[in-house]
Amino acid sequence: MSKLVRFGISIENELLSLFDSYNSKKKYKNRSEAVRDLIRDKLADEKIVDPGAFVFGIISFVYDHHKREIQKNLNTVQHDSYKSIQFSTHIHLDHDNCLEIIIVRDKASKIKQLAESIFGFKGVKQGKLTLMASYK
Ligand code: NI
Repeated sequence: MSKLVRFGISIENELLSLFDSYNSKKKYKNRSEAVRDLIRDKLADEKIVDPGAFVFGIISFVYDHHKREIQKNLNTVQHDSYKSIQFSTHIHLDHDNCLEIIIVRDKASKIKQLAESIFGFKGVKQGKLTLMASYK
């Protein structure tokens, strides 16, 4: 961990009291830790919107495995992206529905492209993409 540096900031009373209620809700012990987390979070968010940035992602989706071609399409698109995929798992939710979770690591643009092709397949009922980045 690098050396801690102190700095002062000016802030409106109202904004500070909102920040303090946020901090107590989030169980922060002091404002410094909360400010550090907000900065890290903001820097990571900036990286996620940069298409060339290297990020991590979770692609999760629910689909009906009876739909024609769905298994073949999912298999093909995942083999085409084998370099980006770190891990995947499959859960049989009920008689018809499956949940699949894929953990990926690549450029933001590639991950978004993969997620969009999966979510576009006939039979995929709901899809979520979560992107994360290291702030460094
Ligand atoms: Ni299944």
